[in-house]
Amino acid sequence: IPVEDFDLVIFGGTGDLARRKILPGLYRRFATGQMPPEARIIGAARGEMDAEGYRAFVRAALNEFLAPGDCAPADVARFLDRLDFQSVDARGEGGWDEMKPKLREGVVRAFYFSVSPSLFGDIAERLRTHGLAHRDSRIVVEKPFGHDLASAKALNAELAAHFAEDQIYRIDHYLGKETVQNLMAVRFGNILFEPLWNHQYIDNVQITVAETVGVGGRGSYYDHSGAMRDMVQNHIMQLLCLIAMEPPAKFDPDAVRDEKLKVIRALDPATREHTVRGQYAAGSDTPSYFDDVENDASETESFIAMQLSISNWRWKGTPFFIRTGKRMKARLSEIVITFQPTPHSIFDADAGGMPNQLVIRLQPNEGMDLRVTIKEPGPGGMRLIDVPLDMTFAERFGQEAAGSDAYERLIMDVIRGNQTLFMRGDEVEAAWAWTDPILKEWEEKHDRPIPYEPGSAGPDQSLALLHRSGRAWREIK
Ligand code: BG6
Repeated sequence: IPVEDFDLVIFGGTGDLARRKILPGLYRRFATGQMPPEARIIGAARGEMDAEGYRAFVRAALNEFLAPGDCAPADVARFLDRLDFQSVDARGEGGWDEMKPKLREGVVRAFYFSVSPSLFGDIAERLRTHGLAHRDSRIVVEKPFGHDLASAKALNAELAAHFAEDQIYRIDHYLGKETVQNLMAVRFGNILFEPLWNHQYIDNVQITVAETVGVGGRGSYYDHSGAMRDMVQNHIMQLLCLIAMEPPAKFDPDAVRDEKLKVIRALDPATREHTVRGQYAAGSDTPSYFDDVENDASETESFIAMQLSISNWRWKGTPFFIRTGKRMKARLSEIVITFQPTPHSIFDADAGGMPNQLVIRLQPNEGMDLRVTIKEPGPGGMRLIDVPLDMTFAERFGQEAAGSDAYERLIMDVIRGNQTLFMRGDEVEAAWAWTDPILKEWEEKHDRPIPYEPGSAGPDQSLALLHRSGRAWREIK
């Protein structure tokens, strides 16, 4: 669905995220007619560059990060025509007044802060003091949104000094993933699941976000962050909220975010006994974590597995297992809901069959499987097998629907003024409030992560975390 006409300023317009995600995503929307032909994108950064230079920079980014088939020369030329550039000094006054004439009145105005959070406050202030932002302008801010609760509160306060909460779009790109939104459609668009969606019928929930890449290239950021801050506090917490929340009365931003917030507040404190932290060792042709971050004494985790519990009526007693790590066996993000076994089996003990599972695949191969037990066809008698009712999006809807990127979807929501898939300030703070105590404990006790083989599923202790209660992770394939 096309959006209204807009002007979008990207601070950090020559940065890595702009090159890899934001600009290619905007181009895709433009080429498919979902961005108005008059809309304008203004790159902003500290360095000197003119509009022509920026167009050449963006052309190179599109060539690098889009499939050749996606870059029809006529579309690229029309898209580049929509671009402009303004050099600004985030901490000084240079360039701001020059930006003003580049913005039009009467269209949606959005400012994307794809810069270090240490600049959020400076930019927000200058947008206001130079009269660039109106009451209905929007700002989009990237993670990391804070390093702990105190810094997240400080960032919220800096933004709140210049913008109202309904103008602030805190991006968590996991919320823009197609299957993540589908999770809400499946939960709240069907009668089938809700009666079963609680501790009585769900044995356990698993969330796995495994990556094959290491942290090389981002070592200095990552070593101060680690898997807990980089992935759990934000992306995994958001997934957990969508699985665990109560049905909101409406699919509207505050109704959804109120329910997510209640989940975070009902999470029991994380404990060291229910946590396994790991660090990848060197492989035959891959460097170790220490080498990647150039710090032999690092106590930062590149892998984490945790057992979490939610203390409320719906979930008391159902464990939520989460794990995420770098340099693992495969790139795979999935949510697995394992239901309880039937209360009594009428079949022979050796007939087979297993509890139902709903597998929600975020990537690759986005889609869902509902695993059900049926009779094995043929003459073998009553033998039970487990088969997937499989809905792979690419097969059902074509690669294009399955493959569009989270960022482009979220940017279009900013233009539409829809905050449902963005984090509210209090949600972010609640997530940090839950994360802070365990981070502090690791630091105080100098907990050393356990080394694990690259290309594995993380340290064996992560398997033991589930074995203790007779459960097992779904295999990473
Ligand atoms: C980012 C993290 O937010 O998400 C990265 O900083 C991580 O460390 C990335 O690799 C994963 O995103 P995706 O969409 O590739 O699963």
